[in-house]
Amino acid sequence: MIADIHITEKSFGDKTLMKDVKFSVDDGEKVGVVGRNGVGKSTLFGILSGKDTDYTGEVIFRRGITVATTAQEHHGLGEQTVMSYILGGLPEYSKLKKIIDEYPLTMGDNMRKIEEYTQALERFDQKGFYQVEEKIERELSNFQMRRLWQSADFFPVWRSKKAGGNC
Ligand SMILES: Nc1ncnc2c1ncn2[C@@H]1O[C@H](COP(=O)(O)OP(=O)(O)O)[C@@H](O)[C@H]1O
Ligand SMILES: [Mg+2]
Repeated sequence: MIADIHITEKSFGDKTLMKDVKFSVDDGEKVGVVGRNGVGKSTLFGILSGKDTDYTGEVIFRRGITVATTAQEHHGLGEQTVMSYILGGLPEYSKLKKIIDEYPLTMGDNMRKIEEYTQALERFDQKGFYQVEEKIERELSNFQMRRLWQSADFFPVWRSKKAGGNC
């Protein structure tokens, strides 16, 4: 089990949007949420990602699970690649990566920095970040995004491909 969800109620003012929404997600499962405009898909994802805490019920993730999200719409990302956008959305990733890349150049024999660097390496490993690019690449290739993820030019393609669906 990765996630166990039971939203007993979600309302906006006096409008009740969800009552007893219950499901779980198992290891290896891929889940799509399909529904007409306005049924509450975005609201559900807001709750799952932790952005929306204004509901009653329980959203339980297995210990050690990291929830990563991408926005439904993207503006002003410039030359950023799909890969760096996704990595940037992983909690802790950017902070740790910066320490790992930059500290060796400047830390010298500063014990505090060496300690911080060592801890960053440990944490990076613990979070599975050494394998994460490979994992993301694999997932993107499941969406026929093999290779293209390396290119910033890819974003418009991705957007237009996504345009058929709507969360
Ligand atoms: N912040 C909000 N305040 C009040 N009503 C909202 C708010 N966000 C969404 N709603 C309403 O909740 C319903 C579900 O919205 P939403 O989750 O965006 O649906 P979907 O993503 O399935 O199209 C809609 O009727 C919408 O108007
Ligand atoms: Mg939506």
